[in-house]
Amino acid sequence: MTATAVAHPNIALVKYWGKADADLALPATGSVSMGLDVFPTTTSVTLTDRREARDTFTLNGRVVDDGPLVRVERFLDLVRGMAGSDARAAVVSENTVPTGAGLASSASGFAALAVAAAAAYGLDLSERDLSRLARRGSGSATRSIPGGVSVWHAGDDAGSFAETVPAPPMAMVVVTINDGPKEIGSREAMRRTIATSPFYPAWVSSTTETVGDMLAACAAGDFTRIGELTESNALRMHATIEGAFPPIRYLTSRSVAVFDAVVAMRADGIEAYATADAGPNVVVLCRPEDRARVAGALDGFGAVIESGTGPAARLLRSEDP
Ligand code: DP6
Repeated sequence: MTATAVAHPNIALVKYWGKADADLALPATGSVSMGLDVFPTTTSVTLTDRREARDTFTLNGRVVDDGPLVRVERFLDLVRGMAGSDARAAVVSENTVPTGAGLASSASGFAALAVAAAAAYGLDLSERDLSRLARRGSGSATRSIPGGVSVWHAGDDAGSFAETVPAPPMAMVVVTINDGPKEIGSREAMRRTIATSPFYPAWVSSTTETVGDMLAACAAGDFTRIGELTESNALRMHATIEGAFPPIRYLTSRSVAVFDAVVAMRADGIEAYATADAGPNVVVLCRPEDRARVAGALDGFGAVIESGTGPAARLLRSEDP
């Protein structure tokens, strides 16, 4: 049995930073994101007939046999547990995020893997249950199952899933900046933030409130409010992370220059708002009609990529040869 699925990355408007339960991958707060329509990840899962000792994982034509394979195997163990199967699998994934673009590939990666693996192992899961499953691979993957703008609810295992919410038309411009120091991964950085940043409790309480405000702004179609909340929440996340010990700093001087350029754009009457994840790249939220102008204005800061709002993850085919 082979099943193939596609999923896209998402960029959080209200960030997920910190787990309430690491085993179940339950977040400390809710979060809200916009799915992108660029950089799909296409993944196929083929069940192997023989009882192989291990799964295999091929990413962009290269056989992976270290950390990422262990993460894929742990994820497949969950799927096998749900399906009552002990069949091993061959996972082949094509990730179109250009190398060095700095967009996390774990969101689209685990969303595509969740959809393909569920189908290959014969599980008929709802979008909600696929989202809960993707969560166990990587938190942000929860939000790459539904399309458009989505909220990922904080809650217990049954209640922590993502779903699409009504929102006005929006676009994003990704500005790629590759001059940062070697990054510390988000998993480890979250742990250190929780353990050592005195600002973390305030991050949790303020973000919980911001999720509610963001959902209200989305429902009202209030793009200006969505943008203001997005930029504010991103800066609060980075302030919280910078408050860890030893400190973690993801934004470089070039990242900050893009934030400044976005402020200047607003002074010129273009409604644009900046956000950034666990790295130096900056993503700029704007209205769809402004995206080419925003991309043009930010061209000098790094490679720019424009994106509209993306589709839900979906099964492309499932065949039993
Ligand atoms: C800064 O989803 O990569 O992008 O759950 O440990 O796999 P794990 O973390 P991950 O963290 C994403 C953090 C972020 C904010 C966000 O996407 O909400």
